[in-house]
Amino acid sequence: MAEKKWVYVFNELDQASKYVGGAWDDVRGLLGGKGANLFEMYRIGLPVPPFFTVTTEACNAYLAAGEKFPEGMWEQELEALKKIEEASGKKFGDPSNPLLVSCRSGAKFSMPGMMDTVLNIGLNDQTVEGMIKLTENPRFVYDSYRRLIMMFGSVVLGLPDEAFEEPMDEFKAHKGAKADTDLTAEDLKELSEIFKKVVREQKGFDFPQDPIEQLRLATEAVFKSWNGKRARDYRRAENIPDNLGTAVNIVTMVFGNMGWDSGTGVAFTRNPSTGERKVYGDYLLNAQGEDVVAGIRNTEPIEKMVEKLPEAYHQFMQICELLEKHYKDMQDMEFTIERGKLWMLQTRNGKRTARAAVKIAVDMVHEGLIDRKEAIKRVTPKQVDALLHPQFDEEGKKKAKKEGRFFASGVNASPGAAVGRVYFDADTAERMAKEEGQDVIMVRPFTKPDDVHGMLAAKGILTSEGGATSHAAVVARQFGVPCVVGASAVRINLEKREMTANGIVVKEGEWISVDGGSGEVYLGKLDLTVPKLEEQKDLLTLLQWADEI
Ligand SMILES: Nc1ncnc2c1ncn2[C@@H]1O[C@H](COP(=O)(O)OP(=O)(O)OP(=O)(O)O)[C@@H](O)[C@H]1O
Ligand SMILES: [Mg+2]
Repeated sequence: MAEKKWVYVFNELDQASKYVGGAWDDVRGLLGGKGANLFEMYRIGLPVPPFFTVTTEACNAYLAAGEKFPEGMWEQELEALKKIEEASGKKFGDPSNPLLVSCRSGAKFSMPGMMDTVLNIGLNDQTVEGMIKLTENPRFVYDSYRRLIMMFGSVVLGLPDEAFEEPMDEFKAHKGAKADTDLTAEDLKELSEIFKKVVREQKGFDFPQDPIEQLRLATEAVFKSWNGKRARDYRRAENIPDNLGTAVNIVTMVFGNMGWDSGTGVAFTRNPSTGERKVYGDYLLNAQGEDVVAGIRNTEPIEKMVEKLPEAYHQFMQICELLEKHYKDMQDMEFTIERGKLWMLQTRNGKRTARAAVKIAVDMVHEGLIDRKEAIKRVTPKQVDALLHPQFDEEGKKKAKKEGRFFASGVNASPGAAVGRVYFDADTAERMAKEEGQDVIMVRPFTKPDDVHGMLAAKGILTSEGGATSHAAVVARQFGVPCVVGASAVRINLEKREMTANGIVVKEGEWISVDGGSGEVYLGKLDLTVPKLEEQKDLLTLLQWADEI
């Protein structure tokens, strides 16, 4: 009997499909949604870096065996690595021409940011030197190296993010650097040494220098992240079964941080908040993908990309159209531009608000992409209900402004009106909501996937950093929690448990009102009004179709 196949290389979609019996849903089950869509993008000729996928079956076997790789899996992974070495013309661990890879989670159903990913695997003290010779760009290479040590340290070795963030903030302050991009090559080299020291001191061993060891440990970490707390919290909220497992995607690294002709971004083919038919997204020049999705840097709107990287921009716009027609649904995509060349790293059906779900479903019928029956299927009863939820009254907002109760504004990441008491961390927010029955607004500098339990318990969310495509915003929209992100005037003092903006101080436990539709935040409780059904044209159209069928 042939050995069981645990690993599929980028051009083996047909084999995977045959193995599961041909249904796309089962392909997604085997390869995970992220993996399956990478294969599909490759198949239809889009620029995807060479990759392979370790199946969800391997993950389940690994977890069932008490965290041991099933027989043959690791050998197959190493074989597949050779194939992507051939395709990319680089060699893993070879200082003269090193291949770097990412190790990415990806379950059947997308769980934005809930599991782990490690970028830049394959860098070590030797390959760093080789990369510098090849790229003549030491700044980029050390930036990638410090990122690897940081991600590896937190994801694989289980160190808290602060173990790296604090020394990094201190270092930046010491160097007088405001943004990460102000750090020089020398600075970043120093920073990677500081990070290595963090690993040594906190773990009692050195950051692993052997690329193969890095790959093995990262693969295991991604398998294990299926059972991480935030992944479990999310699955419960979304009714996703616990026994699906995650696939692991090993993807040749492409670099958005190679200089100012490189960048990275996230975009939706339509506005996920309003449903408007216009590409909506964020990007950053000279950065790696996690800077955008984690919401740790304030991004630029995608339209601006046309000025800086016109060719890649136009190509990307064409791909948006193509992918939407292909999947017949709004897509949420990740891309990276390396020295002007565009690479696609992910596509999935985009999470959206209730309002956007209705508008997109109706518009797509008019555009001939889907039929009426399909449109009705795409809107849940819960979403219809959400559209009839109370909104802030415009007159009430004007009055509050006059009374000096306007606090701050940010990006309107998830619409709806939320009134509640302010709490500054996810655990307290959850406790106050669950045990005390309070209406809670969770306020954070930025939210991390670890905060998902607080986000679910909150009536509303406010962050001072991050953009509308950050995972915080995606999760808020999906669960219909009103959310304002990137309210940059807000300074949060986690020690004093208070925040300030425009000279106004709000202490923990005080009431605020968050308008996720306009991005505004007010002090105290604003009045609410119930929206009128007869004003919601798209919803009426959809309800009428439902009656007719
Ligand atoms: N090979 C690669 N080259 C460049 N960037 C990459 C590569 N692999 C992943 N990235 C980027 O790193 C970031 C994190 O990756 P990934 O998509 O695996 O996880 P995530 O976006 O945090 O969560 P999700 O599982 O919801 O997609 C993304 O911005 C992605 O585009
Ligand atoms: Mg992603």
